[in-house]
Amino acid sequence: MSKNVLSRAADGVMAWVNERAPGMMPAYRKHMTEYYAPKNFNVWYYFGSLALVMLVNQIVTGIFLTMHYKPSAAEAFSSIEYIMRDVPGGWLIRYMHSTGASLFFVVVYLHMFRGLIYGSGKKPRELVWLLGMAIFLTLMAEAFMGYVLPWGNMSYWGAQVIINLFGAVPYVGTALTEWIRGDFVVADATLNRFFALHVIALPLVLLLLVVLHLGALHEVGSNNPDGVEIKKKKDARGIPLDGIPFHPYYTVKDLFGTAAFLTVMFFIIFFEPTAGGVFLEHDNFFPANQLATPDHIKPVWYFTPYYAMLRAIPNKLAGVMTMGGAVLILFLVPWLDCSPVKSIRYRPLLSKIMVGLFVVAFVILGWLGSQAGSDMQKLTAQILTVFYFGFFLLMPIWSRMGTFKPVPDRVTMHD
Ligand code: HEM
Repeated sequence: MSKNVLSRAADGVMAWVNERAPGMMPAYRKHMTEYYAPKNFNVWYYFGSLALVMLVNQIVTGIFLTMHYKPSAAEAFSSIEYIMRDVPGGWLIRYMHSTGASLFFVVVYLHMFRGLIYGSGKKPRELVWLLGMAIFLTLMAEAFMGYVLPWGNMSYWGAQVIINLFGAVPYVGTALTEWIRGDFVVADATLNRFFALHVIALPLVLLLLVVLHLGALHEVGSNNPDGVEIKKKKDARGIPLDGIPFHPYYTVKDLFGTAAFLTVMFFIIFFEPTAGGVFLEHDNFFPANQLATPDHIKPVWYFTPYYAMLRAIPNKLAGVMTMGGAVLILFLVPWLDCSPVKSIRYRPLLSKIMVGLFVVAFVILGWLGSQAGSDMQKLTAQILTVFYFGFFLLMPIWSRMGTFKPVPDRVTMHD
């Protein structure tokens, strides 16, 4: 069949580009049409592409917000109100960004959890995991600084509390907090530097890390829900028997996942953008006021599990180290997990119970971190903090215990 004018023109452009940049087509093939991904991906495998979608969402909506936002202590809060009330479509862009930040964390937490249950960070994918963790740390810094920008009262006091944590560092603590703030209190200088870091420096780092994360993944190939290395069984052409080309098969599947996710996302944005004060706290709808501390200073939900651990420890330095340790220990998961099989499907009941308890503990810690903190709550947080660290530090022991099911040679498909 003869080609129409459009596709002939496209072929012409492609040929022209190929002649001048011959490395581009092979790179496209390596990462798309000839990247063989296991054919048994399940819903957990949507969250990587959804994290990419959310990253793009944050960058694009962020660019539009920057067009109207004023990064000064005098004008920041009212410029956000202006965006919400007067800029055409401004409310939508703002909620896509601020509610979007929460949804980004939902996606990233589920993505990390998938890695935990399928042993995705275990050999040979340790580098993929480490780069993922570097992304997670950067994302936390990015979200914290973004939260300060509207200059609401919780922005202000949240920044105050978090920056003061650096004051716990022996000898240099006070100097360090002043250096971070650029002033003796959280002030205009702080807002300006957070703006610079939030809109350009950290997004660049994030983008670079994501490219490296995917580059590292494509070197070794994806894991899958069975934890079977598909590269071990190849056909005569060297193609994994259980692999299918990423494009078009998974691009189409990911498009479906993205459509489903965006439906939920816009439902939330249209009908419950603040999630009842969980995604956007009520106190942040009031301008920053140095003379009025909110009744109860707390971070947004995605930080509350760590915040609960910080508050559970009476000593400030020990609390800060516990909180930092709770995040940093995640870097070690590929080495702490000593299970002889990757996927939870073939692990013993004990491992499943431990992971189940971990989820419950993490969720309760998250709730505790959002509460005022009665004595009872503090005690619960202390017990759960011990469990949190026990889960990881004793992982080399419990992850080997029990009777493992035999791992099949080839991946399995479930209808
Ligand atoms: C902006 C944040 C992130 C983006 C855009 C992102 C993107 C992706 C994508 C597109 C994939 C391939 C598709 C998939 O397997 O789902 C992937 C795989 C993976 N990611 Fe991430 N990721 C992010 C954060 C993280 C974090 C925080 C971790 C954990 C510390 C992590 C660990 C992994 C692992 C272990 C894999 C390989 C999974 C497997 O093959 O089973 N990622 N990531």
